[in-house]
Amino acid sequence: MHGSNFNDMENGIRHVAVIMDGNGRWATSRGLERIEGHYRGVEAVRHAINAALKAGIEYLTIYAFSKENWGRRKDEVNGLMELFCKTISLEVPSLIEKGVRVRFLCDRVGLSEDVVGSLDYCESKTGHCERMTLLVALNYGARDEIVSAVKAIAAKAAGGEVSPSDIDEKMLESCLYTAAIPDPDLIIRTSGEQRLSNFLLWQAAYSEFYFTPVLWPDFTEESFREALCEFGRRKRRFGKTE
Ligand code: IPE
Ligand code: IPE
Ligand code: MG
Repeated sequence: MHGSNFNDMENGIRHVAVIMDGNGRWATSRGLERIEGHYRGVEAVRHAINAALKAGIEYLTIYAFSKENWGRRKDEVNGLMELFCKTISLEVPSLIEKGVRVRFLCDRVGLSEDVVGSLDYCESKTGHCERMTLLVALNYGARDEIVSAVKAIAAKAAGGEVSPSDIDEKMLESCLYTAAIPDPDLIIRTSGEQRLSNFLLWQAAYSEFYFTPVLWPDFTEESFREALCEFGRRKRRFGKTE
């Protein structure tokens, strides 16, 4: 079931963003290495994509690796990079079949050539797909994204291309990774944590938040639908009165 009727039911939702958290706890509670939890998390990403497609969501954003995640143990970081390299390329045929275009919200500086190669490959191979856009935040930090945007505008101002008085929200937005993408209507975070962890700070200004104790590897299509149902009950006012 997807399309406009479902969308109406869901409060006109276009963009859902997910902070996929709890892979490590899922693994350690089973006596497994943390990396096993990340591998299991890939299955949950497939569930989220399928559920989003069925709901007619236009943009699904997933938080895969933060700038701060470099501070984890080397074996976990290396394992994650290997996982990204492997799965991103492997998923391409199935993403194309589903009509999912992939884009990375990503600082490519600091990533290995292998990882950058797989991101570029995935973006170019799925570029023509139109049913849904999957945005993957990888080596992403929202503060860093905003600082980069400010730097780009400052360079233009220094070069006389823009005048400081012309700088507005639209201009800043056009310099973010998410330029031209609508703000997330709903941000889901799994694993019981209730924070943003440097995710989409600018874009989340009027997002609805949904926190669930479910650990990411246990997140199913049904879990996604529950989040959408809860969203459908929210009253969004954007500062106005009803
Ligand atoms: C989220 O799961 C995935 C990444 C941050 C890469 P975690 O690895 O943060 O899992 P927990 O929070 O330690 O359980
Ligand atoms: C946020 O999860 C980053 C991703 C999901 C990729 P973390 O597990 O890194 O966040 P904190 O450390 O609990 O805030
Ligand atoms: Mg975590």
